[in-house]
Amino acid sequence: METMLDKYLGATEQTETIKYAGRVIKVQGILIESAGPQAVIGEVCRIEAPRGRGTILAEVVGLAGSIVQLMAYEEIEGIEIGNRVIASGDQLGVAVSQKLLGRVLDAMGRPVDDKGAIESPLYYPAIASPPDPLKRRRIVDPLATGVRAIDGMLAIGRGQRMGIFAGSGVGKSTLLGMIARNTNADVNVVALIGERGREVNEFIERDLGPEGLARSVLIVTPSNSPPLARLRGAYTATAVAEYFRDQGRDVMLLFDSVTRFARAQREIGLAIGEPPATRGYTPSMFDSMPKLLERCGTSDKGTITGFYTILVDGDDMDEPVADTVRGILDGHMVLSRSMAQRYHYPAIDVLTSISRLASTVCGPVTIKAVGAVRRLLSVYREAEDLINVGAYHAGSNPVIDEAIAKREAMEEFLTQTVEERTAMADTIKALGRIAGLEIPAEELSRLPA
Ligand SMILES: Nc1ncnc2c1ncn2[C@@H]1O[C@H](COP(=O)(O)OP(=O)(O)OP(=O)(O)O)[C@@H](O)[C@H]1O
Ligand SMILES: [Mg+2]
Repeated sequence: METMLDKYLGATEQTETIKYAGRVIKVQGILIESAGPQAVIGEVCRIEAPRGRGTILAEVVGLAGSIVQLMAYEEIEGIEIGNRVIASGDQLGVAVSQKLLGRVLDAMGRPVDDKGAIESPLYYPAIASPPDPLKRRRIVDPLATGVRAIDGMLAIGRGQRMGIFAGSGVGKSTLLGMIARNTNADVNVVALIGERGREVNEFIERDLGPEGLARSVLIVTPSNSPPLARLRGAYTATAVAEYFRDQGRDVMLLFDSVTRFARAQREIGLAIGEPPATRGYTPSMFDSMPKLLERCGTSDKGTITGFYTILVDGDDMDEPVADTVRGILDGHMVLSRSMAQRYHYPAIDVLTSISRLASTVCGPVTIKAVGAVRRLLSVYREAEDLINVGAYHAGSNPVIDEAIAKREAMEEFLTQTVEERTAMADTIKALGRIAGLEIPAEELSRLPA
């Protein structure tokens, strides 16, 4: 496959060899240093590694005096002192077209699924600026995920960005899979960043299925890929989502996980000598997080609705990545280990979760119903210990009585099997029934199918 980059590289080699070529002088861990070429930070370079590897693509990550610091997108075995380093003059870009649908790409946007090349004259830069804030459309329309706990209790707007916070093994990836298959968004962009490689096929075959894959693009950089690949995979996925948004589509960006992205940024930061701050995270992590997350959302053309998973160790919501991300996003879902242990799936703790735009995208009666159900859930939770030990006597508090009476209906509403999909109008009607409210037809007619 010949890309624009290859053409450029071919041309520069013949013309200004000295200016655009350098030599490797040091390799330390993941950091490669070379004398020359003349290049800017972020520029893609090609390292010609003769030891049976062909070429290795790398990116300029630092400039120290006359030394160019590089990191590779791929494994660096085979690099030797003296290998030629050729500057491309370009930043990382991804070839975009409608043909991306149904495809699986690597961090650099190259297909990895044996379905042939994606030839497109159109390239989107992996690193880009967020839309002009003044041109962003307001978020007003609801987006259906097909998951009752979300569509009912934490309604999401098209263009909203949500975090999914959970400890390991509580069901983040499974929930993303459910959303990918069931959502009414036009296009899914799925970024699997730094997660287990074996989960990739599972996600494609089990979670997406052929019908889900047909309207999805996957960008995959598993945990064994170099940190720069994990970092750039995140940007490439965002660029692909931006392309479809520019086509006027409603895009769903499903990102697993932001924590692995942050850790990749930390590895790179430490390798180029940044000072570690909180828990070893370097300033560049705190800096890169808004740059990544702000690109999502609405523009004047379309929307990107984002779901980003964040691993919270020991359910510590104040850990630096969780804390930074929560401040940027428009809401968060907390998955609870104790609910998962009770086999309450999806284990979304709606009482500690919040969608900051739910009240904007829902009608007034729906909002009232959500409030009533939240109250019943919280009353039940407070009284739960008493109820379980038999210390609560029926009739002593009418609100607790109601919470007990409706407990089963609420559990049934909030739990859902992986295969099940509920249309949003049915979800809202069911919510109204629990709250004892009739949702008016005009509120239901606004909802996506
Ligand atoms: N909705 C569900 N219904 C039934 N079982 C579930 C559900 N969600 C998760 N599980 C169970 O929990 C396990 C872990 O789920 P999952 O891989 O989605 O968690 P995770 O939070 O992504 O984990 P990790 O932090 O390791 O990436 C699954 O293998 C499955 O057994
Ligand atoms: Mg997972």
